[in-house]
Amino acid sequence: IIEDVRVRKILDSRGNPTVEVDILTWNGFGRAAAPSGASTGSREVVSFPQGGVDQIISEVEDVISSELIGMAAEDISDIDYVLKEIDGTDNMSSIGGNTTVAVSMAAAKAAANSYNLPLYRFLGGNMVNKLPYPLGNMMNGGEHAGPNAPDIQEFLVVPVGASNISEAVFANSAIHKRLKELIQSKDSNFTGGKGDEGGWIPNISNDNALDIQSQACEEVGDELGITIKPSLDLAASEFWDKDENKYVYAQDGISRDSGEQVEYVKDIIDTYGMFYIEDPFDEKDFDGFSELTSAVGDKCIICGDDIFVTNKEILAEGIEKGAANGLIIKPNQIGSLTETYKTVQLAKENNYVPVVSHRSGETTDETIAHLAVALGTPLIKTGAISGERIAKLNELIRIEEELPDPEMADLKF
Ligand code: PGA
Ligand code: ZN
Repeated sequence: IIEDVRVRKILDSRGNPTVEVDILTWNGFGRAAAPSGASTGSREVVSFPQGGVDQIISEVEDVISSELIGMAAEDISDIDYVLKEIDGTDNMSSIGGNTTVAVSMAAAKAAANSYNLPLYRFLGGNMVNKLPYPLGNMMNGGEHAGPNAPDIQEFLVVPVGASNISEAVFANSAIHKRLKELIQSKDSNFTGGKGDEGGWIPNISNDNALDIQSQACEEVGDELGITIKPSLDLAASEFWDKDENKYVYAQDGISRDSGEQVEYVKDIIDTYGMFYIEDPFDEKDFDGFSELTSAVGDKCIICGDDIFVTNKEILAEGIEKGAANGLIIKPNQIGSLTETYKTVQLAKENNYVPVVSHRSGETTDETIAHLAVALGTPLIKTGAISGERIAKLNELIRIEEELPDPEMADLKF
């Protein structure tokens, strides 16, 4: 039974304010913080009310605590329903989706704690034993980097040959180190700058970045004796020019219409053997998504982030149109654990690969590591090497150690 709800303003990894929530029950405690995006989808719920975190603390905290005190922390869907009622809007704009998701996650953690269970066990049940492969973000561009970086937002890798999470995490780290050397060899002015998700910010073209990404995968993969595959998040909504109807690659001085973008991305997938491609089109370009998925969906995960925004109605529309075969799961895009679960369920029923993900603005909160294990998602996105990113990776190492019979997840390809 919930006895107290406390909300505070804390720092995120960009130095911006975000919310952290503590929930106390008579015998349990849960704490969770909300992340924030930079390349957000337009149909995400609103993160904060107009007055920001300060308004949450001055006006919203008391309303939420007076409604939730006395409820059972384990009744997550009832709690999410009450939060939705308090908000009263369709897009959580009055109290903020970041508030509701932090309360939702803190309640789940308090409930788990009161049963003396780790969160992945409380949410996922007794049979849970699979660890997700970490999609590591090695180089950053677009909205997560400076103006001279590649237009492609994330150059990712997946250590598909790793036999346990520790091997997977250190393989990604080895790639990260190797890429620093490879960038230095192409750009003598490189000073080791990192982007929002802890990957390097290279001042090189998209093609050069693709080349060294795959070179690093091959070299480090050979050295470690495991297969490591390249992947991308283009976050193409960010460089879609809706007046010109073109994808504008500023770093390369090239623009492509939707049809040309399909060919370009197909070519990248074939040339580099890409395992996974996220947001290769603008969030409204369902046709581009469908065309690419029907051409390469049998050999590559085409993942939707800004297009689906963890929203089951939009996902249903995508399924209808054959828009993708994977989707990003970011609880704060939809504002509650209950809705997050429903979206994952719909994805699984339709053979869409769910990928639990951090945001570019993060805290050291490690909840998503537990969610990925509980939900049985085969992949997790947690960025690269920086404090708020390794918080999730190190938690996965601890979870693996606790599991009696841990296995890596089953991958589609
Ligand atoms: P965001 O980006 O957290 O800035 O929205 C992450 C992503 O696009 O995957
Ligand atoms: Zn994305």
